[in-house]
This record gives sequence, structure tokens and C-alpha cells, in this order.
Amino acid sequence: MPTRKTTARGAKKPLPPETDLRRIAISTGGGDAPGLNAVIRAGVLSSGRRGWECAGIRDGYNGLLFPEQYPDGGLMRLTRDSVRGITHLGGTILGTTNRGNPMRYPTKRRDGTLVEVDRSGEIVRAFRKHRIDALIAVGGDGSMQIAAAFARTGLRVIGVPKTIDNDLDKTVITFGFDTAVSFATDCIDRLHSTAQAHQRIMVVEVMGRYAGWIAMNSGVSGSADVILIPEIPYDIRKVADAIEARARLGRHFSIVVVAEGARPIGGRMSVVEREAGRAERLGGIGEQVAQELQELTGKETRHVVLGHLLRGGTPTTFDRLLALRFGAAAVRALEEGQSGIMVALDPPTVRYVPLEQATRRMKTVPLDCDTMLTGRDLGICFGD
Ligand code: F6P
Repeated sequence: MPTRKTTARGAKKPLPPETDLRRIAISTGGGDAPGLNAVIRAGVLSSGRRGWECAGIRDGYNGLLFPEQYPDGGLMRLTRDSVRGITHLGGTILGTTNRGNPMRYPTKRRDGTLVEVDRSGEIVRAFRKHRIDALIAVGGDGSMQIAAAFARTGLRVIGVPKTIDNDLDKTVITFGFDTAVSFATDCIDRLHSTAQAHQRIMVVEVMGRYAGWIAMNSGVSGSADVILIPEIPYDIRKVADAIEARARLGRHFSIVVVAEGARPIGGRMSVVEREAGRAERLGGIGEQVAQELQELTGKETRHVVLGHLLRGGTPTTFDRLLALRFGAAAVRALEEGQSGIMVALDPPTVRYVPLEQATRRMKTVPLDCDTMLTGRDLGICFGD
């Protein structure tokens, strides 16, 4: 196999166009995000134009690990007809899972405990058996790490980044994020009127895992009074002070947006569940903050958890277009002979970055970013 040169930006220089691609597979892994179906459609139509067949792996990689459990053998034939009219649909027609890391597959032992087992060899063999020449892996940080590991085994792999959390590095944005932020902003707008009518504190908990992007962007856009994010451990007394200062100015209600990964200074993140083979589940911090604020301020307080509502529904135009662009770019990358790369948004273009680089670190909110500075200039309290 000819070796590829690395360009100044770190991406591999493409090989001459490949001609041996006949059949490619698409998988969607991790938590779903609005835009997954748009990527699938773009991938299938772009492949069809090049004369390649497309197969969709069911439920992450489970379709290849447990073919007997699926009427279609775990691989869905993807044709022009099967992807018709799906661009605007949330979810994924292939299904997904966030317990399906083939390198750390959760497996039950006889005593009932779960252990993690490396089953990646089975996937590589299934690729050969089904004559799959290349894979487009759509997912978040975990899925991109899996894609990078497959690329190291010699499989031809292109990663497509998705996550509502926007915590994937080396791409300015992931699709799903805009839809989640738009919905959260709409909810914050709705909470304003009820908070004002009852002169209450309303605490809104939003997803985002260890990054505060959803909380910050929706909170600033929705004119929240307080935004708590994982990047800034908070002091609850400072939050209470900010709310009381508003009351002295005659504003007897407040909106507090809390990222699920937020934590008090010297405290821990609020974890709901830990289980082998999957990321820990966060949640509960909104309720905790609400209770403490009620005690400290004496004001009636309510909390609401937006949770999975942020992941559902129709992708915004921005997310649809980005997802279509990513899907088509992934196919172009395969045609160019690329592998081991992730498509990424670097406005105004989509470029390729090595998966190894993209998975090195998590993209958290920089404390000096323009949106954060804007929030501070608007007088929003960040709990510090
Ligand atoms: O990564 C996307 C995400 O929605 C996170 O914001 C959240 O912490 C997690 O997934 C929830 O996962 P689950 O669907 O397993 O509850």
C-alpha cells in the first residue's frame, strides 16, 4: 500500500482516486442527534452516484455482532428508495446504542456481573465476510475513538462527527448542537413568563456531559440570569447573591440554566449511574441547585430537566445542511483514497482531520471565548 504524506495541517495527503470500492457500510453510534438521517441519505446518494453499494449496520455495530437477532441479518441494504424523505427526521433509521463499543463490549459473566470484552476482531471478520470495503462511522467522541481503532487495523474508515454536546475537538461545530440549543432557548423563553408570573426561581438543567456549550449558548441567547457550566465550578452563595441583587432592583424572578455536568467548588459532578461498557450518566444537579437556592433566598423555586427532549425532533436547517455536507464529504474522502480521517467544519469549508488528532482531547468551553465574555457583559452570573 503506498504511504501517505502528512500535510502542514496534519491531514493525510490523499492517495490517487481509488477504483476498488464496491460496497461501503454506514454505522451510527452513541446517543442519537438530529441530523443522523441526513448524513445517511447524503452518504447513500453520493455513493450511488459513484456506483457503490451501501449497507447500514444496525444499532452501532450490534448488527455485525448479533446478526441472528435481526430479520435482515443486521445489515440494512441502503438504496435510493430506503433513504427517501428522511432528511428532516430525528433519530436514525439504522438505530444506535451507547453500550456498543466493540473494543469494550459489556458482557455478563455467570455471576451476573458485567465485564468489558474486546470484540473488534469479530467486526473486522464480518467486514471481510460481507465484502465491505470501507466504513463511514457517524458518532461522537466514543465513536470516533472506535473508528480510529478500526483504521489502525487497516480498515478504510471515515469519521463523521455528531453530538448535541458539541464537545468534539477539531471541528468548529457538530450537527445536533444547533437543534438542541434552539430547543433549549425556546424552553427558557417559555419559562420566563411563568417565572415572572409567580415570582419564582426557575432552574433548567440541560445536557452536555462534561462541556457547557448547550447551557452557555442557550442561556446567553435566552437571557438567563445565571448559567452554571462544568468549566466553572460554582459558589452557590454567589448565585444566591445575584438573585437577591435582582430582587432589590424589583426583578423578583430569575432563570438559572445548569449544565448537567456543573459542580460546586470543591464538589463532584452529579452522577446518576455507572455501568461497565458505557459512559457514566449525569443528572440531578438542577434539583440540587434549586433546593439550595430556595433555602438561601427564601424564594419559591422549581426545576425542570430538559434531558432527552434536546435530542429529539426535526434538525434545524443548519444541522440538516451540515449533516448533508458531512455525509457527502465522507464519500468524497473515500473516493480520494482517504482513511483514518474525520470530516470537520472549518467555515466556510469542510476539511479532513486525522481521527487520532480529533480524539486527543475534549472540546470544552474556553473561559475567554466571545460568547462567555458577552454573557458577562450582559450581567449574567456564572457562579464565580
Ligand atoms: O452525548 C449526548 C448525551 O445526550 C449527553 O448530553 C448526555 O449526558 C448523554 O448523552 C445521555 O445519554 P443516555 O441517552 O444514555 O441517557
